[in-house]
Amino acid sequence: MSELKWWQKAVFYQIYPRSFADTNGDGIGDLEGIRRHLDYLQDLGVEAIWLCPHYPSPLVDWGYDVANYTDVAPEYGTLEDFRRLLQETHRRNIRVIVDFVLNHTSDQHPWFQESRSSRDNPKRDWYIWREGRDGGPPNNWYSTFGGPAWEYDPRTGQYYYHFFFKEQPDLNWRNPEVKRAMFDAARFWLEMGVDGFRLDAVGTLFEDPALPDQTAPMSYEEWLKRWSAAADEAERERLQRVRQEMFRYQEDLPEVHDVMRELRALVDTYGDIVLVGETEDLAYYGNGEDELHLVFNFPLMKAPRLTPAVVRANQRERLAGMPPGAWPCNTMGNHDVSRALSRYGDGQHDLEIARLAAALMLTLRGTPFIYYGEEIGMRDLILTDLSQFRDPLGRWWYQVERELFGTPHEEAVVRGARFGRDKCRTPMQWSRGPNAGFCPAAVRPWLPVHPNHAEGVNVADQLEDPDSLLSFYRRLIHLRQRTPALVAGDYLPLAEDSNEALVFLRRLPEDGQACLVAMNMTAHPTQVDTGLDGWGRCLFSTDRAERREEALRELRLAPFEITIIELHPQRQSHGAAEHP
Ligand code: GLC
Ligand code: CA
Repeated sequence: MSELKWWQKAVFYQIYPRSFADTNGDGIGDLEGIRRHLDYLQDLGVEAIWLCPHYPSPLVDWGYDVANYTDVAPEYGTLEDFRRLLQETHRRNIRVIVDFVLNHTSDQHPWFQESRSSRDNPKRDWYIWREGRDGGPPNNWYSTFGGPAWEYDPRTGQYYYHFFFKEQPDLNWRNPEVKRAMFDAARFWLEMGVDGFRLDAVGTLFEDPALPDQTAPMSYEEWLKRWSAAADEAERERLQRVRQEMFRYQEDLPEVHDVMRELRALVDTYGDIVLVGETEDLAYYGNGEDELHLVFNFPLMKAPRLTPAVVRANQRERLAGMPPGAWPCNTMGNHDVSRALSRYGDGQHDLEIARLAAALMLTLRGTPFIYYGEEIGMRDLILTDLSQFRDPLGRWWYQVERELFGTPHEEAVVRGARFGRDKCRTPMQWSRGPNAGFCPAAVRPWLPVHPNHAEGVNVADQLEDPDSLLSFYRRLIHLRQRTPALVAGDYLPLAEDSNEALVFLRRLPEDGQACLVAMNMTAHPTQVDTGLDGWGRCLFSTDRAERREEALRELRLAPFEITIIELHPQRQSHGAAEHP
Protein backbone atom coordinates (compact mmCIF):
# COMPACT_ATOMS: atom_id res chain seq x y z
CA MET A 1 0.00 0.00 0.00
CA SER A 2 2.98 2.26 0.58
CA GLU A 3 3.54 2.80 -3.14
CA LEU A 4 0.13 4.43 -3.43
CA LYS A 5 -0.01 8.23 -3.38
CA TRP A 6 -1.66 10.03 -0.48
CA TRP A 7 -4.66 11.00 -2.61
CA GLN A 8 -5.29 7.37 -3.49
CA LYS A 9 -5.47 6.41 0.17
CA ALA A 10 -7.12 9.47 1.70
CA VAL A 11 -10.76 9.87 2.62
CA PHE A 12 -11.74 13.34 1.39
CA TYR A 13 -14.30 15.61 3.04
CA GLN A 14 -15.92 18.46 1.12
CA ILE A 15 -16.52 21.64 3.09
CA TYR A 16 -18.82 24.43 1.97
CA PRO A 17 -17.14 27.19 4.01
CA ARG A 18 -20.23 29.37 4.24
CA SER A 19 -22.14 26.61 5.98
CA PHE A 20 -19.63 24.86 8.20
CA ALA A 21 -19.20 26.95 11.35
CA ASP A 22 -19.58 30.63 12.15
CA THR A 23 -17.22 31.97 14.80
CA ASN A 24 -17.70 35.74 14.58
CA GLY A 25 -21.47 35.79 14.80
CA ASP A 26 -22.46 37.05 11.36
CA GLY A 27 -24.40 33.91 10.46
CA ILE A 28 -21.78 32.98 7.85
CA GLY A 29 -19.29 30.17 8.22
CA ASP A 30 -15.61 31.14 8.23
CA LEU A 31 -12.10 29.69 8.05
CA GLU A 32 -11.73 29.95 11.81
CA GLY A 33 -14.85 27.80 12.10
CA ILE A 34 -13.16 25.10 10.05
CA ARG A 35 -9.98 25.37 12.11
CA ARG A 36 -11.92 24.86 15.33
CA HIS A 37 -13.43 21.64 14.04
CA LEU A 38 -10.25 19.99 12.83
CA ASP A 39 -10.31 17.65 15.83
CA TYR A 40 -13.73 16.46 14.76
CA LEU A 41 -12.54 15.77 11.22
CA GLN A 42 -9.41 14.05 12.43
CA ASP A 43 -11.34 11.83 14.76
CA LEU A 44 -13.72 10.92 11.95
CA GLY A 45 -10.70 9.77 9.96
CA VAL A 46 -10.72 12.48 7.31
CA GLU A 47 -7.34 12.78 5.59
CA ALA A 48 -8.02 15.54 3.08
CA ILE A 49 -10.37 18.50 2.83
CA TRP A 50 -11.80 20.04 -0.32
CA LEU A 51 -12.74 23.64 0.32
CA CYS A 52 -15.43 25.11 -1.90
CA PRO A 53 -14.47 28.58 -3.18
CA HIS A 54 -13.00 30.77 -0.47
CA TYR A 55 -12.25 33.71 -2.77
CA PRO A 56 -13.71 37.22 -2.74
CA SER A 57 -16.94 37.10 -4.70
CA PRO A 58 -20.12 39.11 -5.23
CA LEU A 59 -21.86 35.78 -4.50
CA VAL A 60 -24.20 35.59 -7.45
CA ASP A 61 -23.21 31.94 -7.75
CA TRP A 62 -22.17 31.75 -4.09
CA GLY A 63 -18.44 31.89 -4.61
CA TYR A 64 -18.23 30.29 -8.05
CA ASP A 65 -18.11 33.83 -9.41
CA VAL A 66 -14.57 34.73 -8.36
CA ALA A 67 -13.54 38.39 -8.18
CA ASN A 68 -9.95 37.75 -7.08
CA TYR A 69 -8.12 34.44 -7.41
CA THR A 70 -5.36 35.22 -4.93
CA ASP A 71 -7.23 36.36 -1.85
CA VAL A 72 -9.76 35.21 0.74
CA ALA A 73 -13.36 36.45 0.97
CA PRO A 74 -13.41 38.95 3.84
CA GLU A 75 -16.38 37.23 5.49
CA TYR A 76 -14.33 34.01 5.64
CA GLY A 77 -11.15 35.63 6.98
CA THR A 78 -7.78 36.74 5.65
CA LEU A 79 -4.86 35.18 3.85
CA GLU A 80 -3.26 34.96 7.27
CA ASP A 81 -6.23 32.91 8.51
CA PHE A 82 -5.91 30.70 5.47
CA ARG A 83 -2.21 30.08 6.16
CA ARG A 84 -2.97 29.25 9.75
CA LEU A 85 -5.73 26.85 8.77
CA LEU A 86 -3.42 25.19 6.27
CA GLN A 87 -0.67 24.84 8.83
CA GLU A 88 -2.87 23.37 11.51
CA THR A 89 -4.54 21.04 9.07
CA HIS A 90 -1.17 19.80 7.84
CA ARG A 91 0.01 19.34 11.40
CA ARG A 92 -2.78 16.78 11.73
CA ASN A 93 -1.66 15.07 8.53
CA ILE A 94 -4.77 16.28 6.76
CA ARG A 95 -4.29 17.74 3.27
CA VAL A 96 -6.17 20.67 1.79
CA ILE A 97 -7.29 21.15 -1.78
CA VAL A 98 -9.01 24.30 -2.97
CA ASP A 99 -11.65 24.88 -5.61
CA PHE A 100 -10.32 26.44 -8.80
CA VAL A 101 -12.77 28.05 -11.20
CA LEU A 102 -11.08 28.10 -14.60
CA ASN A 103 -13.91 28.66 -17.03
CA HIS A 104 -15.18 32.06 -15.94
CA THR A 105 -14.67 34.93 -13.55
CA SER A 106 -17.17 37.19 -11.85
CA ASP A 107 -18.30 40.14 -13.95
CA GLN A 108 -16.89 42.17 -11.04
CA HIS A 109 -13.38 40.80 -11.57
CA PRO A 110 -11.03 43.65 -12.61
CA TRP A 111 -10.13 41.65 -15.75
CA PHE A 112 -13.71 41.76 -16.95
CA GLN A 113 -14.19 45.35 -15.87
CA GLU A 114 -11.28 46.24 -18.13
CA SER A 115 -12.38 43.94 -20.89
CA ARG A 116 -15.82 45.45 -21.13
CA SER A 117 -14.57 49.06 -20.95
CA SER A 118 -13.75 49.40 -24.66
CA ARG A 119 -13.36 47.32 -27.79
CA ASP A 120 -9.63 48.00 -27.93
CA ASN A 121 -8.82 47.44 -24.27
CA PRO A 122 -5.80 45.10 -23.96
CA LYS A 123 -7.99 42.67 -21.97
CA ARG A 124 -10.84 42.75 -24.51
CA ASP A 125 -9.79 39.38 -25.86
CA TRP A 126 -9.58 37.80 -22.39
CA TYR A 127 -13.30 37.09 -22.70
CA ILE A 128 -15.49 36.04 -25.61
CA TRP A 129 -17.01 39.04 -27.35
CA ARG A 130 -19.00 38.81 -30.58
CA GLU A 131 -21.24 40.89 -32.80
CA GLY A 132 -24.95 40.18 -32.63
CA ARG A 133 -26.92 38.66 -35.46
CA ASP A 134 -30.10 40.19 -36.88
CA GLY A 135 -30.63 42.33 -33.81
CA GLY A 136 -30.22 39.37 -31.43
CA PRO A 137 -27.45 37.25 -29.93
CA PRO A 138 -24.67 35.78 -32.14
CA ASN A 139 -26.31 32.32 -32.16
CA ASN A 140 -28.90 30.15 -30.40
CA TRP A 141 -26.73 28.66 -27.65
CA TYR A 142 -28.12 28.33 -24.13
CA SER A 143 -26.59 29.01 -20.77
CA THR A 144 -26.75 25.85 -18.68
CA PHE A 145 -28.38 28.03 -16.01
CA GLY A 146 -31.17 29.08 -18.36
CA GLY A 147 -31.75 31.64 -21.08
CA PRO A 148 -29.33 32.56 -23.84
CA ALA A 149 -25.57 32.10 -23.43
CA TRP A 150 -25.01 35.67 -24.65
CA GLU A 151 -25.41 38.98 -22.87
CA TYR A 152 -25.55 42.28 -24.70
CA ASP A 153 -23.29 44.97 -23.28
CA PRO A 154 -24.52 48.39 -24.42
CA ARG A 155 -21.24 50.06 -23.52
CA THR A 156 -19.47 48.57 -26.53
CA GLY A 157 -22.43 47.24 -28.50
CA GLN A 158 -21.29 43.59 -28.46
CA TYR A 159 -22.33 40.37 -26.74
CA TYR A 160 -20.22 38.36 -24.31
CA TYR A 161 -20.52 34.63 -23.78
CA HIS A 162 -21.41 32.94 -20.47
CA PHE A 163 -21.99 29.22 -20.00
CA PHE A 164 -23.33 29.85 -16.49
CA PHE A 165 -24.99 33.01 -15.09
CA LYS A 166 -24.58 36.26 -17.00
CA GLU A 167 -22.53 37.49 -14.04
CA GLN A 168 -20.00 34.73 -14.88
CA PRO A 169 -18.45 35.70 -18.23
CA ASP A 170 -16.38 32.90 -19.81
CA LEU A 171 -12.66 33.45 -20.09
CA ASN A 172 -11.15 33.03 -23.53
CA TRP A 173 -8.80 30.09 -23.09
CA ARG A 174 -7.55 30.51 -26.66
CA ASN A 175 -5.71 33.60 -25.43
CA PRO A 176 -2.31 32.61 -23.99
CA GLU A 177 -2.42 35.56 -21.57
CA VAL A 178 -5.49 34.08 -19.91
CA LYS A 179 -3.75 30.80 -19.42
CA ARG A 180 -0.69 32.53 -18.01
CA ALA A 181 -2.77 34.53 -15.53
CA MET A 182 -4.72 31.50 -14.35
CA PHE A 183 -1.62 29.33 -14.03
CA ASP A 184 -0.06 32.11 -11.97
CA ALA A 185 -3.05 31.92 -9.64
CA ALA A 186 -2.51 28.17 -9.35
CA ARG A 187 1.14 28.78 -8.48
CA PHE A 188 0.11 31.27 -5.80
CA TRP A 189 -1.76 28.58 -3.84
CA LEU A 190 0.79 25.88 -4.56
CA GLU A 191 3.56 28.12 -3.19
CA MET A 192 1.48 28.60 -0.09
CA GLY A 193 1.32 24.85 0.32
CA VAL A 194 -2.09 23.64 -0.80
CA ASP A 195 -2.14 20.01 -1.85
CA GLY A 196 -4.22 20.26 -4.99
CA PHE A 197 -7.24 21.61 -6.79
CA ARG A 198 -10.79 20.62 -7.46
CA LEU A 199 -11.23 21.96 -10.98
CA ASP A 200 -14.64 23.49 -11.53
CA ALA A 201 -16.58 22.71 -14.70
CA VAL A 202 -13.50 21.70 -16.70
CA GLY A 203 -15.55 20.60 -19.68
CA THR A 204 -16.70 24.14 -20.39
CA LEU A 205 -13.34 25.82 -21.07
CA PHE A 206 -13.66 25.91 -24.86
CA GLU A 207 -16.43 26.42 -27.34
CA ASP A 208 -16.53 26.17 -31.12
CA PRO A 209 -15.16 29.48 -32.46
CA ALA A 210 -17.32 29.24 -35.60
CA LEU A 211 -20.41 29.49 -33.35
CA PRO A 212 -22.63 27.04 -35.28
CA ASP A 213 -26.26 27.02 -34.15
CA GLN A 214 -27.24 23.99 -32.11
CA THR A 215 -30.03 21.86 -33.53
CA ALA A 216 -31.69 20.22 -30.53
CA PRO A 217 -35.38 19.48 -31.11
CA MET A 218 -36.71 21.35 -28.06
CA SER A 219 -36.06 24.39 -25.89
CA TYR A 220 -33.90 24.03 -22.81
CA GLU A 221 -36.82 24.83 -20.49
CA GLU A 222 -38.88 22.12 -22.14
CA TRP A 223 -35.94 19.78 -21.81
CA LEU A 224 -35.57 20.48 -18.09
CA LYS A 225 -39.26 19.93 -17.54
CA ARG A 226 -39.17 16.58 -19.28
CA TRP A 227 -35.99 15.62 -17.47
CA SER A 228 -37.54 16.22 -14.07
CA ALA A 229 -40.59 14.18 -15.09
CA ALA A 230 -38.69 11.39 -16.87
CA ALA A 231 -40.36 8.12 -16.00
CA ASP A 232 -37.63 5.62 -16.73
CA GLU A 233 -34.03 5.04 -17.63
CA ALA A 234 -34.75 4.83 -21.36
CA GLU A 235 -36.38 8.26 -21.33
CA ARG A 236 -33.48 9.71 -19.38
CA GLU A 237 -30.99 8.27 -21.88
CA ARG A 238 -32.95 9.73 -24.76
CA LEU A 239 -33.03 13.12 -23.06
CA GLN A 240 -29.34 12.88 -22.27
CA ARG A 241 -28.65 12.61 -26.00
CA VAL A 242 -30.83 15.65 -26.66
CA ARG A 243 -28.86 17.61 -24.09
CA GLN A 244 -25.60 16.58 -25.68
CA GLU A 245 -26.85 17.87 -28.99
CA MET A 246 -27.95 21.13 -27.39
CA PHE A 247 -24.54 21.82 -25.84
CA ARG A 248 -22.28 19.99 -28.28
CA TYR A 249 -20.44 23.13 -29.41
CA GLN A 250 -19.96 24.35 -25.85
CA GLU A 251 -18.75 21.34 -23.85
CA ASP A 252 -15.86 18.89 -23.80
CA LEU A 253 -14.06 20.21 -26.87
CA PRO A 254 -10.76 18.45 -27.56
CA GLU A 255 -8.73 21.60 -26.81
CA VAL A 256 -9.50 21.31 -23.11
CA HIS A 257 -7.24 18.28 -22.86
CA ASP A 258 -4.23 20.37 -23.91
CA VAL A 259 -4.89 22.70 -20.99
CA MET A 260 -5.29 19.75 -18.60
CA ARG A 261 -1.94 18.34 -19.73
CA GLU A 262 -0.23 21.68 -19.24
CA LEU A 263 -1.78 22.16 -15.83
CA ARG A 264 -0.73 18.65 -14.85
CA ALA A 265 2.83 19.37 -15.93
CA LEU A 266 2.75 22.54 -13.84
CA VAL A 267 1.45 20.91 -10.65
CA ASP A 268 3.80 17.95 -11.04
CA THR A 269 6.71 20.32 -10.43
CA TYR A 270 5.32 20.88 -6.92
CA GLY A 271 5.44 17.26 -5.79
CA ASP A 272 2.45 15.09 -4.96
CA ILE A 273 -0.30 17.49 -5.92
CA VAL A 274 -3.73 16.22 -6.87
CA LEU A 275 -6.09 17.46 -9.59
CA VAL A 276 -9.73 16.42 -9.25
CA GLY A 277 -11.99 17.38 -12.10
CA GLU A 278 -15.64 18.22 -11.88
CA THR A 279 -16.42 15.82 -14.67
CA GLU A 280 -17.37 12.19 -15.08
CA ASP A 281 -15.75 11.86 -18.48
CA LEU A 282 -13.01 9.25 -18.25
CA ALA A 283 -11.18 10.98 -21.14
CA TYR A 284 -9.94 13.48 -18.55
CA TYR A 285 -7.61 10.83 -17.13
CA GLY A 286 -5.66 11.29 -20.38
CA ASN A 287 -3.26 8.38 -20.77
CA GLY A 288 -3.62 7.70 -17.05
CA GLU A 289 -0.69 9.91 -16.12
CA ASP A 290 -0.84 13.14 -18.05
CA GLU A 291 -4.17 14.82 -17.21
CA LEU A 292 -6.34 14.62 -14.08
CA HIS A 293 -5.55 12.33 -11.16
CA LEU A 294 -9.20 11.87 -10.25
CA VAL A 295 -12.47 12.05 -12.16
CA PHE A 296 -15.69 11.72 -10.17
CA ASN A 297 -17.86 8.65 -10.60
CA PHE A 298 -20.95 10.84 -11.03
CA PRO A 299 -22.94 8.10 -12.77
CA LEU A 300 -23.06 6.22 -9.47
CA MET A 301 -24.06 9.36 -7.57
CA LYS A 302 -26.79 10.06 -10.11
CA ALA A 303 -28.24 6.56 -10.14
CA PRO A 304 -31.92 7.01 -9.25
CA ARG A 305 -31.82 3.89 -7.05
CA LEU A 306 -29.01 1.93 -5.46
CA THR A 307 -29.36 -1.72 -6.40
CA PRO A 308 -26.75 -4.46 -6.78
CA ALA A 309 -27.28 -4.50 -10.55
CA VAL A 310 -26.82 -0.73 -10.83
CA VAL A 311 -23.61 -0.79 -8.81
CA ARG A 312 -22.19 -3.80 -10.67
CA ALA A 313 -22.94 -2.26 -14.05
CA ASN A 314 -21.45 1.02 -12.91
CA GLN A 315 -18.25 -0.63 -11.71
CA ARG A 316 -17.94 -2.75 -14.82
CA GLU A 317 -18.21 0.26 -17.07
CA ARG A 318 -16.05 2.66 -15.07
CA LEU A 319 -13.23 0.32 -14.18
CA ALA A 320 -12.98 -1.11 -17.68
CA GLY A 321 -13.12 2.35 -19.25
CA MET A 322 -10.21 3.81 -17.30
CA PRO A 323 -6.74 3.95 -18.81
CA PRO A 324 -4.06 1.89 -17.06
CA GLY A 325 -2.73 3.62 -13.96
CA ALA A 326 -5.84 5.78 -13.49
CA TRP A 327 -7.53 5.77 -10.08
CA PRO A 328 -11.31 5.89 -9.46
CA CYS A 329 -13.11 8.38 -7.27
CA ASN A 330 -16.51 7.83 -5.67
CA THR A 331 -18.92 10.27 -4.12
CA MET A 332 -22.54 10.30 -3.02
CA GLY A 333 -23.19 14.02 -2.98
CA ASN A 334 -21.93 17.57 -3.32
CA HIS A 335 -23.11 21.18 -3.14
CA ASP A 336 -24.98 20.93 -6.45
CA VAL A 337 -27.21 17.92 -5.91
CA SER A 338 -29.86 16.60 -3.59
CA ARG A 339 -28.38 15.06 -0.45
CA ALA A 340 -27.89 11.30 -0.63
CA LEU A 341 -30.38 10.55 2.11
CA SER A 342 -33.08 12.64 0.45
CA ARG A 343 -32.49 10.85 -2.83
CA TYR A 344 -32.23 7.29 -1.60
CA GLY A 345 -34.15 7.22 1.65
CA ASP A 346 -37.50 5.42 1.58
CA GLY A 347 -38.83 6.98 4.78
CA GLN A 348 -38.72 3.61 6.55
CA HIS A 349 -35.15 2.38 6.38
CA ASP A 350 -33.32 5.66 6.04
CA LEU A 351 -30.55 4.87 8.47
CA GLU A 352 -29.92 1.54 6.77
CA ILE A 353 -29.90 3.12 3.32
CA ALA A 354 -27.57 5.88 4.44
CA ARG A 355 -25.22 3.18 5.70
CA LEU A 356 -25.34 1.42 2.37
CA ALA A 357 -24.44 4.59 0.51
CA ALA A 358 -21.54 5.18 2.88
CA ALA A 359 -20.37 1.58 2.67
CA LEU A 360 -20.35 1.69 -1.12
CA MET A 361 -18.22 4.78 -1.14
CA LEU A 362 -15.84 3.44 1.48
CA THR A 363 -15.40 -0.09 0.13
CA LEU A 364 -15.54 0.22 -3.64
CA ARG A 365 -12.21 0.75 -5.34
CA GLY A 366 -11.27 4.43 -5.44
CA THR A 367 -10.90 7.59 -3.40
CA PRO A 368 -14.05 8.50 -1.44
CA PHE A 369 -15.39 12.06 -1.16
CA ILE A 370 -17.79 12.71 1.72
CA TYR A 371 -20.01 15.81 1.54
CA TYR A 372 -20.18 17.67 4.85
CA GLY A 373 -23.11 16.57 7.01
CA GLU A 374 -23.63 13.36 5.08
CA GLU A 375 -21.96 11.52 7.96
CA ILE A 376 -24.79 12.54 10.29
CA GLY A 377 -27.54 11.97 7.75
CA MET A 378 -28.33 15.57 6.87
CA ARG A 379 -31.19 15.94 4.42
CA ASP A 380 -32.35 18.47 1.89
CA LEU A 381 -34.22 21.42 3.33
CA ILE A 382 -36.93 22.45 0.90
CA LEU A 383 -37.57 26.14 1.51
CA THR A 384 -41.21 27.16 1.29
CA ASP A 385 -40.70 30.90 1.27
CA LEU A 386 -39.37 32.43 -1.92
CA SER A 387 -37.75 35.26 0.01
CA GLN A 388 -35.41 32.74 1.64
CA PHE A 389 -34.06 31.45 -1.68
CA ARG A 390 -30.38 32.25 -2.10
CA ASP A 391 -29.49 30.27 -5.20
CA PRO A 392 -30.64 32.17 -8.33
CA LEU A 393 -31.27 28.80 -10.01
CA GLY A 394 -34.15 28.16 -7.62
CA ARG A 395 -35.62 31.58 -8.33
CA TRP A 396 -35.20 31.13 -12.08
CA TRP A 397 -36.99 27.79 -12.02
CA TYR A 398 -39.82 29.29 -9.96
CA GLN A 399 -40.28 31.89 -12.74
CA VAL A 400 -40.17 29.23 -15.45
CA GLU A 401 -42.83 27.21 -13.63
CA ARG A 402 -45.05 30.25 -13.20
CA GLU A 403 -44.65 31.88 -16.58
CA LEU A 404 -43.99 29.03 -18.96
CA PHE A 405 -45.88 26.19 -17.37
CA GLY A 406 -48.59 28.10 -15.48
CA THR A 407 -47.85 26.29 -12.23
CA PRO A 408 -49.69 27.75 -9.17
CA HIS A 409 -47.51 29.82 -6.84
CA GLU A 410 -47.16 27.37 -3.97
CA GLU A 411 -46.33 24.42 -6.15
CA ALA A 412 -43.91 26.56 -8.16
CA VAL A 413 -42.08 27.53 -4.95
CA VAL A 414 -41.59 23.89 -4.01
CA ARG A 415 -40.42 23.00 -7.50
CA GLY A 416 -38.08 25.99 -7.49
CA ALA A 417 -36.68 24.91 -4.13
CA ARG A 418 -36.14 21.38 -5.39
CA PHE A 419 -34.48 22.61 -8.55
CA GLY A 420 -32.24 25.10 -6.76
CA ARG A 421 -29.25 24.13 -4.65
CA ASP A 422 -29.98 25.85 -1.33
CA LYS A 423 -31.51 22.57 -0.23
CA CYS A 424 -28.16 20.84 0.19
CA ARG A 425 -26.17 23.85 1.45
CA THR A 426 -27.79 24.49 4.83
CA PRO A 427 -25.66 24.96 7.95
CA MET A 428 -23.78 22.03 9.44
CA GLN A 429 -25.65 20.56 12.38
CA TRP A 430 -23.28 20.44 15.32
CA SER A 431 -25.77 20.11 18.17
CA ARG A 432 -29.45 20.07 19.06
CA GLY A 433 -29.10 23.62 20.44
CA PRO A 434 -30.21 26.89 18.83
CA ASN A 435 -29.11 27.20 15.18
CA ALA A 436 -27.72 23.67 15.55
CA GLY A 437 -24.60 25.19 17.09
CA PHE A 438 -23.62 26.61 13.70
CA CYS A 439 -23.85 30.23 14.85
CA PRO A 440 -24.90 32.04 18.05
CA ALA A 441 -28.54 31.78 19.09
CA ALA A 442 -29.38 35.42 18.43
CA VAL A 443 -27.99 35.36 14.91
CA ARG A 444 -29.84 34.47 11.73
CA PRO A 445 -27.79 32.02 9.67
CA TRP A 446 -27.37 32.82 5.96
CA LEU A 447 -29.59 29.84 5.14
CA PRO A 448 -32.08 28.34 7.60
CA VAL A 449 -30.95 25.38 9.67
CA HIS A 450 -32.78 22.11 9.07
CA PRO A 451 -35.21 21.57 11.96
CA ASN A 452 -34.20 17.92 12.20
CA HIS A 453 -31.07 19.00 14.10
CA ALA A 454 -33.32 18.82 17.16
CA GLU A 455 -34.23 15.22 16.37
CA GLY A 456 -30.86 13.59 16.49
CA VAL A 457 -29.42 14.77 13.19
CA ASN A 458 -26.47 16.49 14.80
CA VAL A 459 -22.87 15.73 15.69
CA ALA A 460 -23.08 16.01 19.47
CA ASP A 461 -25.90 13.49 19.89
CA GLN A 462 -24.42 11.04 17.41
CA LEU A 463 -20.94 11.14 18.93
CA GLU A 464 -22.47 9.70 22.09
CA ASP A 465 -24.33 6.95 20.32
CA PRO A 466 -22.42 3.87 19.11
CA ASP A 467 -25.31 2.97 16.80
CA SER A 468 -25.49 6.35 15.08
CA LEU A 469 -24.70 6.97 11.45
CA LEU A 470 -21.72 9.06 12.53
CA SER A 471 -20.32 6.13 14.53
CA PHE A 472 -20.85 3.90 11.51
CA TYR A 473 -18.87 6.26 9.23
CA ARG A 474 -16.13 6.59 11.80
CA ARG A 475 -15.83 2.86 12.37
CA LEU A 476 -15.79 2.04 8.67
CA ILE A 477 -13.31 4.78 7.80
CA HIS A 478 -10.97 3.57 10.51
CA LEU A 479 -11.31 -0.02 9.35
CA ARG A 480 -10.53 1.08 5.81
CA GLN A 481 -7.38 2.80 6.98
CA ARG A 482 -5.98 -0.32 8.58
CA THR A 483 -7.12 -2.74 5.89
CA PRO A 484 -4.85 -2.46 2.83
CA ALA A 485 -7.11 -4.58 0.60
CA LEU A 486 -9.95 -2.08 1.03
CA VAL A 487 -7.74 0.73 -0.19
CA ALA A 488 -5.42 -0.83 -2.74
CA GLY A 489 -7.10 -4.10 -3.65
CA ASP A 490 -8.68 -4.78 -6.99
CA TYR A 491 -12.42 -5.27 -7.36
CA LEU A 492 -13.86 -8.65 -8.24
CA PRO A 493 -17.65 -9.03 -8.35
CA LEU A 494 -19.15 -12.25 -6.94
CA ALA A 495 -22.66 -13.68 -6.86
CA GLU A 496 -23.50 -11.55 -9.85
CA ASP A 497 -26.94 -13.03 -10.30
CA SER A 498 -28.20 -11.75 -6.95
CA ASN A 499 -30.77 -8.97 -7.15
CA GLU A 500 -30.63 -8.46 -3.40
CA ALA A 501 -27.00 -8.52 -2.41
CA LEU A 502 -23.94 -6.79 -3.73
CA VAL A 503 -20.95 -9.04 -3.09
CA PHE A 504 -17.38 -8.45 -4.16
CA LEU A 505 -13.78 -9.13 -3.28
CA ARG A 506 -11.15 -6.50 -2.73
CA ARG A 507 -7.89 -8.32 -3.19
CA LEU A 508 -4.21 -7.42 -3.19
CA PRO A 509 -1.97 -9.08 -5.79
CA GLU A 510 -0.28 -12.42 -5.29
CA ASP A 511 -1.08 -13.82 -1.88
CA GLY A 512 -1.85 -10.46 -0.36
CA GLN A 513 -4.83 -9.63 1.79
CA ALA A 514 -8.32 -10.30 0.41
CA CYS A 515 -11.62 -9.05 1.81
CA LEU A 516 -15.10 -10.13 0.98
CA VAL A 517 -17.61 -7.29 1.07
CA ALA A 518 -21.29 -8.19 1.21
CA MET A 519 -24.25 -5.83 1.36
CA ASN A 520 -27.87 -6.80 1.39
CA MET A 521 -29.51 -3.87 -0.38
CA THR A 522 -33.06 -4.92 0.48
CA ALA A 523 -35.35 -4.92 3.51
CA HIS A 524 -35.63 -8.71 3.65
CA PRO A 525 -33.15 -11.44 4.51
CA THR A 526 -31.32 -13.10 1.66
CA GLN A 527 -28.77 -15.76 0.99
CA VAL A 528 -25.97 -15.78 -1.57
CA ASP A 529 -23.54 -18.30 -2.95
CA THR A 530 -20.20 -16.49 -3.12
CA GLY A 531 -18.47 -19.30 -4.97
CA LEU A 532 -15.67 -19.14 -2.42
CA ASP A 533 -14.51 -22.06 -0.30
CA GLY A 534 -13.10 -21.95 3.18
CA TRP A 535 -13.38 -19.57 6.04
CA GLY A 536 -12.65 -16.00 6.93
CA ARG A 537 -12.67 -13.66 9.86
CA CYS A 538 -15.34 -11.02 10.21
CA LEU A 539 -13.76 -7.54 10.31
CA PHE A 540 -16.86 -5.43 10.30
CA SER A 541 -20.56 -6.02 10.38
CA THR A 542 -23.86 -4.34 11.07
CA ASP A 543 -25.32 -7.66 12.19
CA ARG A 544 -22.77 -10.24 13.24
CA ALA A 545 -20.06 -10.54 15.81
CA GLU A 546 -16.72 -9.20 14.72
CA ARG A 547 -13.60 -11.38 14.82
CA ARG A 548 -15.76 -14.49 14.47
CA GLU A 549 -14.96 -17.19 11.93
CA GLU A 550 -17.38 -17.29 9.02
CA ALA A 551 -17.85 -19.86 6.28
CA LEU A 552 -17.50 -18.09 2.95
CA ARG A 553 -19.64 -20.04 0.53
CA GLU A 554 -23.22 -19.58 1.67
CA LEU A 555 -23.78 -16.19 3.20
CA ARG A 556 -27.06 -15.47 4.91
CA LEU A 557 -27.56 -11.75 5.11
CA ALA A 558 -30.00 -9.92 7.37
CA PRO A 559 -32.00 -7.02 5.91
CA PHE A 560 -29.58 -4.25 4.91
CA GLU A 561 -26.69 -6.14 6.44
CA ILE A 562 -23.22 -4.91 5.60
CA THR A 563 -20.42 -7.32 6.37
CA ILE A 564 -16.71 -7.42 5.58
CA ILE A 565 -14.81 -10.67 5.98
CA GLU A 566 -11.08 -11.09 5.63
CA LEU A 567 -10.19 -14.30 3.84
CA HIS A 568 -7.59 -16.50 5.48
CA PRO A 569 -4.41 -16.34 3.43
CA GLN A 570 -3.72 -20.06 3.06
CA ARG A 571 -6.96 -21.87 3.49
CA GLN A 572 -9.27 -20.40 0.91
CA SER A 573 -8.92 -21.50 -2.65
CA HIS A 574 -7.63 -18.76 -4.90
CA GLY A 575 -8.84 -20.68 -7.88
CA ALA A 576 -12.38 -20.30 -6.68
CA ALA A 577 -11.80 -16.62 -5.99
CA GLU A 578 -10.68 -16.03 -9.53
CA HIS A 579 -13.37 -18.05 -11.20
CA PRO A 580 -16.48 -17.73 -9.08
C1 GLC B 1 -19.77 23.94 -10.90
C2 GLC B 1 -20.06 24.18 -9.44
C3 GLC B 1 -21.37 24.88 -9.33
C4 GLC B 1 -21.27 26.19 -10.05
C5 GLC B 1 -20.82 25.99 -11.49
C6 GLC B 1 -20.41 27.28 -12.13
O1 GLC B 1 -20.73 23.13 -11.47
O2 GLC B 1 -20.02 22.97 -8.75
O3 GLC B 1 -21.74 25.09 -7.99
O4 GLC B 1 -22.51 26.84 -10.04
O5 GLC B 1 -19.69 25.16 -11.57
O6 GLC B 1 -19.20 27.74 -11.59
CA1 CA C 1 -18.69 34.25 10.32
